Amino acid sequence: MSDYLSPALPPAFFPPTSPAAYSRADFGPDFHWGVSTAAYQIEGAGDCDGKGPSIWDEFVQRPGKIKRGEHGHEACDFYRRWPQDLDLLRELHVPNYRFSVAWSRVLPQGTGPVNQAGLDYYERLVDGCLARGIEPWLTLYHWDLPLALQQRGGWQNRAVVGWFTDYAELVARRLGDRVKHWMVLNEPMVFVGAGHLLGIHAPGRRGLGAFLAATHHAALAQAEGGRALRAALPAPAQIGTTFSCSYLAPARPGLPRDERATRRADALLNRLFVEPALGLGYPVDALPWLGWLERYVQPGDEQRLPFAFDFLGVQNYTREVVRHSPFVPLLWATLVGAAKRQVPHTTMGWEVYPESLYYMLRQFSAYPQAPRLIVTENGAAFPDEAPLDGRVPDPARQAYLQAAIGQVLRARREGMPVAGYFAWSFTDNFEWAEGYRPRFGLVHVDYATQRRTVKDSGWWYRDLLAGAAPLS
Ligand code: NOJ
Repeated sequence: MSDYLSPALPPAFFPPTSPAAYSRADFGPDFHWGVSTAAYQIEGAGDCDGKGPSIWDEFVQRPGKIKRGEHGHEACDFYRRWPQDLDLLRELHVPNYRFSVAWSRVLPQGTGPVNQAGLDYYERLVDGCLARGIEPWLTLYHWDLPLALQQRGGWQNRAVVGWFTDYAELVARRLGDRVKHWMVLNEPMVFVGAGHLLGIHAPGRRGLGAFLAATHHAALAQAEGGRALRAALPAPAQIGTTFSCSYLAPARPGLPRDERATRRADALLNRLFVEPALGLGYPVDALPWLGWLERYVQPGDEQRLPFAFDFLGVQNYTREVVRHSPFVPLLWATLVGAAKRQVPHTTMGWEVYPESLYYMLRQFSAYPQAPRLIVTENGAAFPDEAPLDGRVPDPARQAYLQAAIGQVLRARREGMPVAGYFAWSFTDNFEWAEGYRPRFGLVHVDYATQRRTVKDSGWWYRDLLAGAAPLS
């Protein structure tokens, strides 16, 4: 065990199925290592240089929506500090950097006039990566829809598919000669579910009709966005899209009620967007009310839902435990939180369960149509101490990453086509409705001064990426 690690951590952090020691070489030379970020969570500069407002710029102003009334107006000030941050990435030996483009920075109204200053910014960022030997991985949509488009119905308006493909084409034409790895959507289940069913994320809609309309339009945009990129990008661009997923276990294994509730939750949380993309349609078998999606389906849509992605992004943080509940119509299931189960958990309340990542890689690999898988996000928020003498000891995060990456190695050794791992996140950042309290970064951010301090987990990741002898 490395000297960074506290032996006081409970055994959940060290499952016996995660190899105790490994090095970068165990993953092979072509494995893609990286870190992930998203525009609204880090950039700040929400109204600079011609940027239009997004639904998150508006949502954070609604009283009670964000913990402590926080917002992303400044965030990590990445918009200005990116050169130093990219220098730091290089120092950490990170070869791939995932970021997203803020749609309303390049198209302030979502459609129509282009903001050249916005495109110039992303061009400088991409060139800055390449100049440092860092490969840019670009996500087109990480939840920040232009507000002007929300005022026209947003994801509930079928026209969003065309707005999105025009935007995809614009970015692809400008950056396609330099960016080789593209992701269409980030976690559609989360922006559709949290934003249109639960109302806890922008645009704060709450209703089954809003959810179903947004689901179908996002699923169409996922595939049509892929096609727009394919048409606009020079070969051999790699086009993917990313999915949230959690391994689900019944609260009372063997109890048919809980087993059935688990299958329904799996259809909603893990299958809803990947299966139409793979040509399997919506998972109506497990969740019959998804049949109501028909209301939004037009002739020809079934043929438009699939797209031959080059890779699927798998984003996993925890597992969920599911219990039958008579109080939740349609799903008849509730998730039993980690605190209630009294198991080790993160600041987000998410159980520390590294094997979830392995199980989800196995579930995605089991689709015969599945292309390569890339873990485009994985990580953990823990309550870090403020830096002291330039150090932030974070043994829990380090142990979490070490075990999770071990599960990726386990999957690879069993022959699953997993070809990359990106840690969430490079720096601490704005965690949506939770504000700044959950700190996911490998690098600590002091928001008062914008000072960055690499945490011990960041140095551990650097050692792994630098190919140091087997780390344990
Ligand atoms: C997934 C999202 O893509 C990202 O924006 C978020 O910060 C992390 N999960 C952690 O919740």
